[in-house]
Amino acid sequence: MKIGFIGAGEMGGAIIRGLLSKGYPKEDILAGVHTEQSAARLQAELGITAGTDNVRVIREANWLFLAVKPAQVAAVLQQIAACGTPAKPLISMALGWSVEKIQQVLPSWPVIRIMPNTPLALGEGVTLFHFAQETPKRTRREVMALFDGLGKTFEISLPLFDAATAVSGSGPAFVYAFVDAFAKAGAAQGLPEEQSAALALQTVIGAAKMLESTGLPAAELAQKVATPGGCTAAGMDVMRASDMQKILTDTIAATVNKAKAVAK
Ligand SMILES: NC(=O)c1ccc[n+]([C@@H]2O[C@H](COP(=O)([O-])OP(=O)(O)OC[C@H]3O[C@@H](n4cnc5c(N)ncnc54)[C@H](OP(=O)(O)O)[C@@H]3O)[C@@H](O)[C@H]2O)c1
Repeated sequence: MKIGFIGAGEMGGAIIRGLLSKGYPKEDILAGVHTEQSAARLQAELGITAGTDNVRVIREANWLFLAVKPAQVAAVLQQIAACGTPAKPLISMALGWSVEKIQQVLPSWPVIRIMPNTPLALGEGVTLFHFAQETPKRTRREVMALFDGLGKTFEISLPLFDAATAVSGSGPAFVYAFVDAFAKAGAAQGLPEEQSAALALQTVIGAAKMLESTGLPAAELAQKVATPGGCTAAGMDVMRASDMQKILTDTIAATVNKAKAVAK
């Protein structure tokens, strides 16, 4: 089955890398991008067929991924409509584009809304799914199966989609920002920058694995590290007093509000 990507940058590229790493044949992946340079890079790095001719991808693919920036979506949908090809599953990851909004341009097309994140290229992603009510069970299963081995998948109802998107779609950026601040804080105490960055990174990886393998709530694991009256507890006191919870609550709320504004 041929899978076509309209747009193959950070996110589309991550999905392609994920598919290739789990053994999807490179001959069955096509990509349409904006510039010849990107097409040449995708061909050289990933061995897939890539070019600037979206129409070829739209016609040849059995399933189409829409992975351009939200601002380009309207033009690409018009291009798909103008092609006059028979309807096929269209998997969109465009922020602010609901299934209904896409179906206004492509009425008979089975549209699936997803929100992946980039760690999926390494098999550690999160992909959210929202299906239109009429999507057949078989199509749902087949689309979700494509993401097997690329991380975890979650079916999310429409009213919660923006909130879930803020946590897992945008979330890697917040985690990177935390790791950066963590490393800089170590360097401020005299650690060489590179060493502090390596300590921060491995600590985050190890703590995430502890969370996963123990299944314990994060707050409980934090308590286990922070002996009452000890030095970790002194640090935790500062974290609480600085209201880290409020910073994150505001961060997620701003992300959700922006998504709702884009959707209007
Ligand atoms: N980045 C993330 O972490 C992330 C996470 C979740 C969801 N998303 C969603 O993923 C989508 C893509 O975002 P991105 O970050 O991957 O953007 P990006 O890195 O800027 O990639 C955009 C891609 O679209 C191509 N493109 C632009 N105009 C086109 C056109 N008219 N026809 C065909 N291809 C065209 C670009 O080609 P050139 O390279 O040639 O310009 C590039 O391959 C967005 O809807 C975003 O909301 C992204």
